[in-house]
Formats: sequence, structure tokens, C-alpha cells
Amino acid sequence: MPLRSPYQLNREGVTLDTVGRLISRTALNPFITLPLWLAAAYTNQGSALVAKNLNAERGFKALRTLLILGAFRYVNSFLDAGVTNNWSNDVYDWKKEVVVVTGGSDGIGAHVVKLLAERGIKVAVLDIQDLKYDPPATVSFFKCDLASPDSITSVTATIRSTLGEPTILINNAGVAFGKCILETSERDLNLTFRVNTFAHFYLTQALLPSMVQRNHGMIVTVASLAGFVTAPNMVDYAGSKAAAVAFHEGLSAELATVYKAPKVRTVLVAQGYTRTALFQGFKQGDPFVNYPLYPETVAEEIVKAVLAGRSRTLFLPGVSRYVSMKLRAWTEWAQYGLRKNMAELMKSWHGRQVVQPSEEKGKGVLQASEESRSEGDLAAVMGAFAETPAKPYQQPQ
Ligand SMILES: NC(=O)c1ccc[n+]([C@@H]2O[C@H](COP(=O)([O-])OP(=O)(O)OC[C@H]3O[C@@H](n4cnc5c(N)ncnc54)[C@H](O)[C@@H]3O)[C@@H](O)[C@H]2O)c1
Repeated sequence: MPLRSPYQLNREGVTLDTVGRLISRTALNPFITLPLWLAAAYTNQGSALVAKNLNAERGFKALRTLLILGAFRYVNSFLDAGVTNNWSNDVYDWKKEVVVVTGGSDGIGAHVVKLLAERGIKVAVLDIQDLKYDPPATVSFFKCDLASPDSITSVTATIRSTLGEPTILINNAGVAFGKCILETSERDLNLTFRVNTFAHFYLTQALLPSMVQRNHGMIVTVASLAGFVTAPNMVDYAGSKAAAVAFHEGLSAELATVYKAPKVRTVLVAQGYTRTALFQGFKQGDPFVNYPLYPETVAEEIVKAVLAGRSRTLFLPGVSRYVSMKLRAWTEWAQYGLRKNMAELMKSWHGRQVVQPSEEKGKGVLQASEESRSEGDLAAVMGAFAETPAKPYQQPQ
């Protein structure tokens, strides 16, 4: 399937992002405003029109403002791209790259895998549940419990010996419980941080050294807007995602300064509510501004970033960049008000955790992962999975 062109209408319909894109491609495009401004300022006809007509003079001033804003935006994007990529270019040979996608059995990850596979790219899927689709020819599935460092160590060794050294890691798997702080158990908290944050560290520790050695590779961190904005009933989830954002930021700086691998790229994905099982029951926001995303949309943006081979930060919906990134600079009453208002969105949301049947009998992912498990043991434990819906918190009487 061809990737959606930036000139096509969003799958989600007409949104504020559509309007923003239109404005940035026309009114804020210096390649359009500069020739117009030059014509008005330096041609006889243009100068005469501006001198004679009051409206034309106002139009000329507005054009100058748009030109300045557009030029600022253009220079800013140029600096963003240059600095975050350490002013270096790199070439990807898609016949040779090996992409690891965590949580690629379902949801956003599954779409990422399919889009990469359609382009003939070799993909290793790491997931605790079996693929929910027939694997395309270039896709290999590795059952892995990302809550367990042992499972990660063993699976990365298997990938290396079967597919070769991975060059791109997409840390996408995630869990969420949808509970408030007083209801969050030690197990919930541990599983959330192990899958959503610690696994990023362990996988990167296993796969980054060879990328650094070749000065070639990419680590994609799928975080969330929750990494920037915390709402009630998702404090553990938001904490784990804020830590993932910090992981991405620190890794990007370490690559340039500590490991001296300026061509190893880092991509941060911060998306809002997406229609997958993980956020089933979450109340949809405003369909125009903070619109609900389709997993295909998020996956396409991730794949576009990977294929571009450039470091970048992706905010979806695009307009959320201006809210979430800037939130802590807002006045406190506005920040507090926003967080409180988000409680409304959470009322029917229970999150999603994919666990093994053994978990239900009291011996779960965490206990099992504390023990040193062999691959055989792991396979036996992970035969099937169940999802545990969270119960709404009851006030003690
Ligand atoms: N859906 C949303 O609204 C939303 C919003 C912001 C961020 N995100 C993030 O996007 C990413 C993908 O989420 P999604 O919506 O596709 O969720 P999903 O539940 O549809 O898919 C998550 C995948 O991770 C796998 N997984 C869970 N626990 C695992 C474990 N212990 N070991 C291995 N694999 C495990 C699941 O089996 C599943 O295939 C997550 O990191 C999530 O936090 C989602």
C-alpha cells in the first residue's frame, strides 16, 4: 500500500491539522510569499498599486508579516533537522536493514510491520501474543515477554543468529491499567514500567553497540502525549511514558557526545488517543482539534520517519505539539484545569495488559521473570494470553 501523501486529506477527515497544513503550504510558504512581496516592492506596477490603494498597502504589510513568519518557520525547521541529525547524512540499504518492532502483533505495531514488509524490509516482531495476522514473507515472529530482561537477552541473541544484526529498533509495545494511584498495585506499577520504559533500556543495551560501531542505525521510541500531559487514572502510564521521553532525549545526546555515533538516529513518537484495544473506552476528544487517530495513521507516520532515515519528533495530532510541549510554561491555573478536565475522558477506560494464564493463578510475568528462565520454560509459560480488565476504584466506606 502506498504511504499517504502529505497532500492527501487525513484518514480522520478535515481537522485543524488540515487547516494548519494548508496555511503552512500557502500563506506561510516563503517560496510563494517572497516572489509576491518582491513584485509588490520592486516592480513599477506593484509599487504604483501599493502607493495608490489603501487596501493594497494593507495587503502589502500583511504579506511582509507572512513572509517574516514563513521565513522564521523555514529557518527553524532547517535548524531542527540539521541539529537533531548532527548535520550528517546517512544511506539506508533497505535490502540489508533488519528492523525490530516490539508489540508488532497487534494495534499500531502490526500496521508498522505490514507497511515495512510491503516494502520488502526484513522485520523481527517481538511480542508476548501471537501475530494477529498472517506473517508476510519478510516477517519473523519471536515470542518475547518484554517485562523480563532474560527474555529480551535470549530473543536478541536468537534474532542476531537467524536474521543478522538489527539496525533499527522500534520500541512500540505498551501496557496500561487505567487505574488511579490508590488502586495501583505493586504488580501493576512494575509491569507498566518494565514494558513501557525498562524494556527500552534493555533492548537498546543489546542492540545499540553494533549500531554505534557501524555509525548506522535508528532507535524509535513510541511514547505518548501522556509523556507530556498527565491525567487522572493514568499516572503510572504517564510516568512510564515521561520516562520514555527522557530516555529518547538522553539517548540522542549520548549518541553524539558519549558514543560518537552522530549518524545513529533517534525518533520520538508522541501520539494522542488512537483507536486500538489499549485505549478502548477512552472518551474521544474534540473531533476537529484533538481528533481520535486511526492506528494506520500513526503507523504510516512512524514508517515515513523510519524510511526517511532522519531523527525527528512526531506529534500526532500535529497541533498537540503546541499544547503538550508548552504545557509547563502555561500558568499553573491553566495547567491544573487541563489535567482536571481530562478526568472526564477516563471514566470508561480500563487500559490493556496482555498477560499469561499463569498470571491469573498467582504466578505472573513479574514473578516468572525474576527467575532465570530458559527459552524452553519461557515458551511453555507463554502458550496463550488473557487480558485483565481493571475494575473502577471503589471509595472505602
Ligand atoms: N492507543 C493509544 O491511544 C495510544 C496513545 C498513545 C500512545 N500509545 C502507545 O503506542 C504503543 C502501541 O500501542 P497500541 O495502541 O498499538 O496498543 P495494543 O495493545 O494494540 O498493542 C500493544 C502490543 O504490545 C504487546 N505487548 C504488551 N505487553 C507485552 C509484553 N510484556 N511483552 C511483549 N509484548 C507486549 C501486545 O501484545 C500488543 O501486541 C504503546 O506503547 C502505547 O503506549 C497508544
